[in-house]
Amino acid sequence: MNARLPETGMDAEDEEKAYDDTPYESNAFPQSQPARLAAVAHLFGLHPAAVETARVLELGCASGGNLIPLAMHFPQAQFVGVDISGKQIADGRQLIAQLGLQNIEFRHMGIQALTPDDGRFDYIVCHGIYSWVPAPVRDAILRVCNENLTDDGVAFVSYNTLPGWHYVQPVRDLMLYWTQDIAGPQQKVNAALELLGQLKDWSEEVARNLYRREWEMLTAENTSYVLHDHMEQTNAPCYFKEFAAHAEQHGLVYLSDVTFRSANPLGFNPQMTELIDRHAGGDVIRAEQMMDFISRRRFRSSLLVKKVRQPQIDRTAPLERLDTLHFSFSVLPVKNPAPPPRMSAVWWHSKIDTYRLGPSTLKPDTRAQSLAVAWIAEHVTLAITFTLDELVAHAVANGEAPLQAREDIRLLLWDLLNTATLRPRSCPMRAAVPGDMPAATPLARANARLDRNTSNAFHDHVALSEAQRRLLLLLDGTRSAAAVAAVLGEGSTEETVRADIKTLSNLHVLC
Ligand SMILES: C[S@@+](CC[C@H](N)C(=O)[O-])C[C@H]1O[C@@H](n2cnc3c(N)ncnc32)[C@H](O)[C@@H]1O
Repeated sequence: MNARLPETGMDAEDEEKAYDDTPYESNAFPQSQPARLAAVAHLFGLHPAAVETARVLELGCASGGNLIPLAMHFPQAQFVGVDISGKQIADGRQLIAQLGLQNIEFRHMGIQALTPDDGRFDYIVCHGIYSWVPAPVRDAILRVCNENLTDDGVAFVSYNTLPGWHYVQPVRDLMLYWTQDIAGPQQKVNAALELLGQLKDWSEEVARNLYRREWEMLTAENTSYVLHDHMEQTNAPCYFKEFAAHAEQHGLVYLSDVTFRSANPLGFNPQMTELIDRHAGGDVIRAEQMMDFISRRRFRSSLLVKKVRQPQIDRTAPLERLDTLHFSFSVLPVKNPAPPPRMSAVWWHSKIDTYRLGPSTLKPDTRAQSLAVAWIAEHVTLAITFTLDELVAHAVANGEAPLQAREDIRLLLWDLLNTATLRPRSCPMRAAVPGDMPAATPLARANARLDRNTSNAFHDHVALSEAQRRLLLLLDGTRSAAAVAAVLGEGSTEETVRADIKTLSNLHVLC
């Protein structure tokens, strides 16, 4: 489908070897959490299966960093992971065995080999593969997303897009060219990053900005990311309209991207929105493609459903549909923020130091909305998810009229969804409050034992320091902070351990 970029022909053996030699650091990917896919489908008027008892398939599951946490959190659901890399599948099976999970199965096979006999699934996830594999595998991904999806199912496919990747392509080409005679994956990555580091300082302005952006992004990632994302043999980004047409060839239709914002371009001024609307004439594919051109988009996480569901897709998304959902934040509100001038709120995230929402996106217009924002700032770190009902109840307890409060708060949540800071979910998640004998989740402990990073109930990736891994291994519910300090010895006191436990608790890796 994408003839513009030369593709290096790879066969299945090459693909397997690439990931056996340098396994991908496999992590939870919150965008692909099925409860989130279900919520987005619900907002578009569909009725996907309950996640708690669903069947979920992941294509290219690597060693299970994304799928295994889901199997832990949803013990009544069934999970199947497929990957061509024997080494990664073996690593995943090792962790599954350690955790004693009975509801997940890893299959060592190519996506191309899947057939309808492999069963039907309510959710199919394929993250970080579609644009990195040769055309026959891309075909197989979408074929499986249709053949193996239930009629109410939702498929998630992420991929690199144009025109954004047109700007990255020269950097990738340079990285491959510069390292073509260097042996060893780590050495290649080191040399490529060193070069980008120099060019970001030495080049003229336009090129400098390009090198700086990629260098900053890639140096924050691990070796396997750089190798497989920027330096993978195949990298075939496509225009969104091409992806949508490819999906259609396979009996699938585009629903939305998982980050809701793209469906509702709040970032655009009214003239731009008018221009897009005029061009699109009500056609979602034309609108999305135009937005990609304007924003020079380089990556998408798109949701697809079967063509039979097309008549039920309601893109007007009435606000009442928010009433039954649960919400969490990808960006947490800071308590008692000192709002900078013209900003209505300051939000904090562990990755993005300070994230500001402009007045147009969050400024509470009504008292009910102000009360809701205050409630969120007060509670959202404790209750992992919250509902519209909770916010309304708080407003009503403070004297607001129930119907008006509900209407106002729906609008607030809708705006927040469109800023992509609020994540919708179809089912709740509650944070654990550690007691006197704190215990880490079995997943966090198993990952610490394997010297890996982990994930939490949000399905967020949680990077662990060496010291945090050591601490997690001691948090098995049999020791107080004082007892842990005694085992850790030198430099540790009950107070320092308590503080470290609090940090782990805020990362939601305690149970
Ligand atoms: C970039 S990694 C992404 C892994 C994981 N989905 C994630 O996002 O962390 C690509 C994965 O796809 C697997 N893969 C590549 N080609 C495949 C194929 N034809 N069939 C099955 N798995 C494949 C690789 O082994 C690797 O684990």
